[in-house]
Amino acid sequence: MMMAATTASANSLSSAFLPRLGFHGSSHQSLQLRTQKFARKAGSGTITAKFELQPPPYPMDALEPHMSSRTFEFHWGKHHRAYVDNLNKQIDGTELDGKTLEDIILVTYNKGAPLPAFNNAAQAWNHQFFWESMKPNGGGEPSGELLELINRDFGSYDAFVKEFKAAAATQFGSGWAWLAYKPEEKKLALVKTPNAENPLVLGYTPLLTIDVWEHAYYLDFQNRRPDYISIFMEKLASWEAVSSRLKAATA
Ligand SMILES: [Fe+2]
Repeated sequence: MMMAATTASANSLSSAFLPRLGFHGSSHQSLQLRTQKFARKAGSGTITAKFELQPPPYPMDALEPHMSSRTFEFHWGKHHRAYVDNLNKQIDGTELDGKTLEDIILVTYNKGAPLPAFNNAAQAWNHQFFWESMKPNGGGEPSGELLELINRDFGSYDAFVKEFKAAAATQFGSGWAWLAYKPEEKKLALVKTPNAENPLVLGYTPLLTIDVWEHAYYLDFQNRRPDYISIFMEKLASWEAVSSRLKAATA
């Protein structure tokens, strides 16, 4: 089996847009590289590329007791895996085969009239970004430039937390809440998105996300979504990851 890193290819979107995605210059391995594809030779001799499910950046029980390993086994092992597997089936042999995951998201979003592969592509990306938005012993207050921008754009850290929690709690049904960076306005913003949508399709750079689909919290919190959101902010959010993403977005 031949390994091939996923990079912007000749048939990808304009490279002028890609830096806006904000995964360059990060101290972490970039999400774009983490969503590697592996290539295989089919019987006909043609080569097809597949996205590979990447493991979370910490052991499945590392976020206990705030996010249980049982939740992880289902959320990563079943739900995230299914999005990746289904995406691979959907793009096999199509013109999307060979594009980066970010390009597939942007192309299949289709200006708000999503094509069939959009949901699986965006959910595959969103979940990897979500795992990397958390860390063991996370939470607490950020510092440095991130805190300065939060204070500037939300008034205070407490006001930001209040708004983030409200956005996550009031996303009706399945979806996501995000802290994002608006490159044109050079400002932070809160965004809530339904189902698989994410800030990339709006032209924003995602910095932090929480998955508010029921499958993200039901085993640990049943229907108490606000409790799950509070624990995420107080014990799980990785401000280190958010600062790194912000640094890349503003470089
Ligand atoms: Fe999820």
